[in-house]
Amino acid sequence: MSAFPRTTTATAPGKIILLGEHAVVYGRPAIAVPVTDVTVTATIRDCAAGSGCTILAHDLGHTVALDNADSTNPLAFIVQLTLAELQLPDNPDWQIEIHSQIPIAGGLGSGAAVSTAICRAIFTHSGHAPDPSRISALVYRSEELYHGTPSGIDNTVIAYAMPIWFVKGGTIEPFTSGNTFTMVIADSGISSPTKETVADVRRQWQAEPARFEAIFDEIAALVHAARRQIEYGTIDKLGALMDQNQLLLEALGVSSPRLQTLIEAARQAGAWGAKLSGGGRGGNVIALVEDARVTRVSAALTEAGAKRVLTTQITATQQRD
Ligand code: PMV
Repeated sequence: MSAFPRTTTATAPGKIILLGEHAVVYGRPAIAVPVTDVTVTATIRDCAAGSGCTILAHDLGHTVALDNADSTNPLAFIVQLTLAELQLPDNPDWQIEIHSQIPIAGGLGSGAAVSTAICRAIFTHSGHAPDPSRISALVYRSEELYHGTPSGIDNTVIAYAMPIWFVKGGTIEPFTSGNTFTMVIADSGISSPTKETVADVRRQWQAEPARFEAIFDEIAALVHAARRQIEYGTIDKLGALMDQNQLLLEALGVSSPRLQTLIEAARQAGAWGAKLSGGGRGGNVIALVEDARVTRVSAALTEAGAKRVLTTQITATQQRD
């Protein structure tokens, strides 16, 4: 008879990158925040002895028997990785059920959130504290399947579930927010694999290193300035920094006419600033909006063709240790 609980549920949020995407792959800082309005839930149930481990992911259209899984199956991969990390049996008698509210390939970190929820559930179900740094490291390895050479920002912000200042290979720094602020997130409905935009930027950087390094430096300066405005709570000033970051993302070649239409619609409707978020070309646009204008900006984004519009609040925080 197991001493562990029979059923364990764990969740993980989505995420957005506020500023610094792409440059972060080249060692510059980026700021990312969790989006708690959309989550993934993973539930583990003990099953009869000998039944083995089955993963049910209805929203993702998967049912996988762990002992039969393809080596490239990302769900089986994170389960196997976590079982090995915790030195657990390689095919426990569990049903792992996943429900996700996060659109796939929509720039909200759905892959990292699914892996994080699974990982956290396995840690807790087997009596281990779900340590964010261990979970982040495991999820990073599953992210490599999706992204090729991820910077690590998605797994970090989602595993820690708090706003972070991220530098690849550096220590994880939660940042303070002097004020609560609202972001409207609009899904362009265009799926654009991050792996491809990251590879395109790399090709261009190889061809013109000095020009691209200079753009990355300009982005880094904006990210530093944004951190100061967030810490001071002068949120309205963040909008102009987002707009400038968008111009530099356009210079990197990762925007698109579709994204620019949405960004312009948000600005016209009174957003303080707007930019693409994540890999670009498709995925999401984010707009910084004062509360009185959220309805108007959301309607303008829908009118301009956004497939789905979400609102998320980043709440004022105290420095965490
Ligand atoms: O497409 P997303 O939301 O997973 O963000 C990718 C962010 C990049 O900086 C473009 C790539 C990375 O690994 O950091």
